[in-house]
Amino acid sequence: MPAFDLIIRGGRVIDGTGAPAFDGDVAVTDGKIAAVGRIDGETARIIDASGHIVCPGFIDVHSHDDIALINMPGMDFKVAQGVTTVVNGNCGAGAAPATDAFQLFYRRGVEGILGPVQEWKWRSLPEFYDCVRSAKPSVNAAFLVPHGALRAASMGAENRPPTEAELQRMKDHLADGMAAGAVGLSTGLIYAPGAFAQTDEIIELAKVVAQYGGIYATHMRNEGANLLDAIDEAIRIAEAAGVPVQISHHKASGRGNWGKTAESVPFIDAARERGLDITTDAYPYTAASTALAAIAPRGRLVRDMDAADVMIASVKHQHQYEGKMLPEIASMMDLPVEEATSRLLREEENTPSAIMFLMDEGDVRRVLQHDVCMIGSDGLPTAGKPHPRLYGTFPRVLGRYSREEGLLTLEDAVRRMTSLPAKKFRLGDRGVVREGAWADLVVFDSNKVADIATYEEPRQYPTGMPYVLVNGRVVVDGSVPSAIDAGQVLSRA
Ligand code: ZN
Ligand code: CU
Repeated sequence: MPAFDLIIRGGRVIDGTGAPAFDGDVAVTDGKIAAVGRIDGETARIIDASGHIVCPGFIDVHSHDDIALINMPGMDFKVAQGVTTVVNGNCGAGAAPATDAFQLFYRRGVEGILGPVQEWKWRSLPEFYDCVRSAKPSVNAAFLVPHGALRAASMGAENRPPTEAELQRMKDHLADGMAAGAVGLSTGLIYAPGAFAQTDEIIELAKVVAQYGGIYATHMRNEGANLLDAIDEAIRIAEAAGVPVQISHHKASGRGNWGKTAESVPFIDAARERGLDITTDAYPYTAASTALAAIAPRGRLVRDMDAADVMIASVKHQHQYEGKMLPEIASMMDLPVEEATSRLLREEENTPSAIMFLMDEGDVRRVLQHDVCMIGSDGLPTAGKPHPRLYGTFPRVLGRYSREEGLLTLEDAVRRMTSLPAKKFRLGDRGVVREGAWADLVVFDSNKVADIATYEEPRQYPTGMPYVLVNGRVVVDGSVPSAIDAGQVLSRA
């Protein structure tokens, strides 16, 4: 019997804590890191990491892979960029509790973002987590309980406060999820039906999360003109309920609001100085992406949004519109933009997704450099031409923003992808290269790592990342995703 299952030999280790890189081997046995340093001893396999960085696997804190984990368990688009854990249920959107009312709601729109459900094999949140478990995905998965789903399941898409009984149903579902290991609650306060909630409803739910030691993650009510008010609401919820808070995809949206992160960053820091555990995440692109129905209800674009900045990403049937800007689609249809948009929504049953070029590079950089900013792809695993963040987020931070632009040291970039999120989302012994920790590991070439995915051709794996391990098993081998069932459904530690 060899002493080790595998040794990654001769690399430079970045341990994820932010500490400086050092030369060392990493040995793996039974899914865990068995030793770090100069290692001799018999092993079943050696991976040569000379000239490469060896670091903890990346934690994608902002994922929408709830259904992808079941439909595409190989998760090639994530493992190829070094992601070993995906945190799902973000933006208030998810796949459970799947009551009849919820299933109807899902088919009428959420499907365009999360993907089609072939068969509803689950009802409750714990049953859904079990279904993900039996799908045997390549990556680890953690879950936030999505507020929009709680609301749709408990009271349909009604635009009013919940009754006592409805609120109690939401709390019960939430408690079910938390008891089964969910890491917290998420909201999507621009999306129906989450947007119909007032602050006090969310505080009541966040109090349940507090009892279990979970966190509150939020796609806030506003990311443009009222960005600071929206952050203030998140802070009030967190302080009233006594929970840590995560600001999802921190940004300043819309030309008129560019530069606003110069105010939001210090605003967040001030809350931290008061003692609140508030952190953020971001993806390294100036374009956002979401359901077309969310930014153009009935065809009319919301404030801060210009048709010339909107590209259609995925369409269920009429694929000729994918990758085209709205004005171009309007001229293809020979209709004014608003009518063309509403026709597309109607004919495609609210399922098209869109990419919106609405951020300023200066804001993106300021947000990424903020000390408490983690990396979250917000990738939408749709058909068509998804936002390139689905394939390129992590290599883009390492290649473009760290190596080329010097925005972050490599050690700091890795910290934001590993130990920082592992601690915040309570993922246990992950996010560090340390003896005894789970062997989620990435081997990459810091001189070559780069994202390749573009808006035109998004389905391209990054380069410079030859090996990725999940729980000690090699899920990317010689740059090829191997689709093995190495992942676990993680419970809050
Ligand atoms: Zn969101
Ligand atoms: Cu999201």
